[in-house]
Amino acid sequence: MSRVWEDVQGRIFGAARNLLNAEYVFAKTMADNPHFYTTRRRWPDNNAFTAAASVIQSEGERAFYGDYNYTELSLNGYYYWTMGAAPPVTEVINRKRRRYENPWDEYAHLYDASCRDLRHPDEIASVMSVIGSMEGLDVLDVGCGTGLLLEMAPELMPERYTGIDSSEGMLRELAAKFPAHRRRVLCCSAENFYPECRYDLVVSMFGGLEGVDVETVRKLLVCVKPGGRWVIMLSAAGMPADCSQYFGFTVPYRDKTAEMRELAGGGDYEPELVGRYHVFCGRRPMDEDNPLAG
Ligand SMILES: C[S@@+](CC[C@H](N)C(=O)[O-])C[C@H]1O[C@@H](n2cnc3c(N)ncnc32)[C@H](O)[C@@H]1O
Repeated sequence: MSRVWEDVQGRIFGAARNLLNAEYVFAKTMADNPHFYTTRRRWPDNNAFTAAASVIQSEGERAFYGDYNYTELSLNGYYYWTMGAAPPVTEVINRKRRRYENPWDEYAHLYDASCRDLRHPDEIASVMSVIGSMEGLDVLDVGCGTGLLLEMAPELMPERYTGIDSSEGMLRELAAKFPAHRRRVLCCSAENFYPECRYDLVVSMFGGLEGVDVETVRKLLVCVKPGGRWVIMLSAAGMPADCSQYFGFTVPYRDKTAEMRELAGGGDYEPELVGRYHVFCGRRPMDEDNPLAG
């Protein structure tokens, strides 16, 4: 892992933890732009506040509010911005729920009845046998969609499950089917998700990570506990993704087969082929901890 990558990701992980756990107040004077804010004096650690402001400014993306241009950083379902002063003299950090534009929203109500039911039951059974029992495990389900993993694994208790997906529509379907798990899912893209805790198992079923780059996958896997496992399914290169095959829309596809082989063990590692998907899996060695995860 390159030093620069580790440093940048370490700074973002640190800022994310502090920003997510800070105390926020509703900005009453800005009813036309409902959001919350936190102030320096509400933070027990002055340096941590400066560091968070600095990460927002250096790692965020340029955005516009009317004519005003500013920098916003998306983390775990929110975006954060400052008023642009230098970090040591920044006094206020704002945050607002991030809404994603995700083409799956439009088709979420059809997903279970079409794309999902067209999957061969043997495919699902094959993947579930690779995943194995999740009894007693802390599980992160990336691109959880309408909750296939929960359907297949009734042993997954809400308190041990976290699902993320950038489609509100897909999560609404999941919540309707699994009301006990509704507070355990977060509308957030994998790119913007900085896990706050560690997991025994990170799963991504049927292409939830197809459009992201390998750096995003590496960042997610930081939260696998020593001895923990990960299982990630990606369309085998050149095969059409579900969305184009069943619904006629396309999502960006990034072929990261070679890098995923490396992550899974390198050498002559071959992912299992399940239907149109490669199933990559790996385990974090017992003696390998990841300092980025805090
Ligand atoms: C084909 S569906 C699979 C859903 C579920 N895992 C299953 O097996 O039924 C892909 C899901 O990944 C989600 N997704 C796609 N890109 C994502 C990203 N970058 N971050 C989070 N979720 C994403 C989509 O919104 C969609 O719900």
